[in-house]
Amino acid sequence: MKTLIEPFKIKSVESIPITNAADREKFLINSFYNPFFLRSEHITIDMLTDSGTTAMSAKQWAGIIDGDEAYAGSRSYYKFEDAVRDITGFDHIIPTHQGRAAERILFSILGGEHKVIPNNTHFDTTRGNIEFTKATAIDLPTDIGIKPDVIADFKGNMDIDKLREAIERVGRKSIPLCMLTITNNSGGGQPVSMQNIRETKQLLNEYGIPLFLDSCRFAENAYFIKIREKGYENKSIKEICREMFSYADGTTMSAKKDGLSNTGGFIATNNERLAEKIKTILIITEGFITYGGLARRDLEALAQGFKEVVDENYLKYRIGQVQYLGDKLLAAGVPLLVPTGGHAIYLDAKRFAPHIRPEFFPGQSIANEVYKAGGIRSVEIGSVMFGRKDEFGRHIAPPMELVRFAVPRRVYTKSHIDYVAEAIIEVYESREKLRGMKIVWEAEFLRHFTAKFEYLQQK
Ligand code: F0G
Repeated sequence: MKTLIEPFKIKSVESIPITNAADREKFLINSFYNPFFLRSEHITIDMLTDSGTTAMSAKQWAGIIDGDEAYAGSRSYYKFEDAVRDITGFDHIIPTHQGRAAERILFSILGGEHKVIPNNTHFDTTRGNIEFTKATAIDLPTDIGIKPDVIADFKGNMDIDKLREAIERVGRKSIPLCMLTITNNSGGGQPVSMQNIRETKQLLNEYGIPLFLDSCRFAENAYFIKIREKGYENKSIKEICREMFSYADGTTMSAKKDGLSNTGGFIATNNERLAEKIKTILIITEGFITYGGLARRDLEALAQGFKEVVDENYLKYRIGQVQYLGDKLLAAGVPLLVPTGGHAIYLDAKRFAPHIRPEFFPGQSIANEVYKAGGIRSVEIGSVMFGRKDEFGRHIAPPMELVRFAVPRRVYTKSHIDYVAEAIIEVYESREKLRGMKIVWEAEFLRHFTAKFEYLQQK
């Protein structure tokens, strides 16, 4: 059979709001044209993120009821620890309430002034946590990784030559660790090959620099390795995961993605001294080492989630659903980052709205218009999220201007996806009407979450 079906049936439903265009216009005004301020009761299809938005399975909900809420030594923690160790192989597994808590703890130990942390591409909170310690976060994607229209298998890869050059330039002592984000979220949900993980590790070994994976979407990455990288076609997803993690000295993970749960995260490492330092900070700021800021029932849901996420039938459907949306848009000529990645489609705002310069936020304008068209929420990943100003106040744009439509796991059906495609295509067909925007208020860090926008005055 060729038809790709959801490998589950629906046991419990939640109705979604249906709004009209006039109301949506008002909701946007009240939200300062920043979709982060929209209320979810005004959103029909929410593609803001795939994080913490998963539909949990009946077995996970059963685990929630069965969770052992002991403060210390909870049975649920040990189930979680076993499940994570089974996939990652790490000795020390330290839960946190979400990914950025793991990042904050790690970088408060290893970051600091004059330190430099390379990554294929830092996610916004990772960069934020590094910069908050006054360290420098550098992105080293490959040249094709920042070309939205070039098709290649592993556009999430680290540029090994640039990494060597960076280490030589800043000096080994300034680099406490190197990160590799799998899949590369800010780079389009693109996978990193096993070869690239191995080569990154080999290079870092020459200098004695530890490698940490930012592994929120490890199972999606493993699936891409299975279907695209020679030698892995007959390996199980779990075997591929074990090999990926075997090259790393540790990992931070937001389990809100491939943990198939609504909250959670962890840090894992084989370095005992580092683990001790992490646990000390954990106890001060998150909670005891067997719950890390989570309810123990959440650990129970995660333990089950990690079992379900490495199921190949699930991953085939998951990656297939994202590709289905991408293919529909491409067939209508909509410019996308290609090939479609693991968890989202990314509109290429530079080609979608070439008449709006990056400093006037073409992606933000598109995100607003798609909400107006169909009540669909997306997020800009471009000059709003990563733009900077130089010393003269001139805009420095990131390499790509994207609008991400993230697909929550196991939540939306094929007709929901058809509806999203229809709305995006409608906006694309009248794209000349899109107008540039300006920021009228912004916070010092991670401005995209709370920035307020206005449209530019028309001449
Ligand atoms: N690293 C990556 C690659 C991420 O995508 C995220 C979160 C984090 C770290 C932080 O994890 O949210 O649990 O604190 N990404 C979400 C997103 C928010 O929408 O892509 P968190």
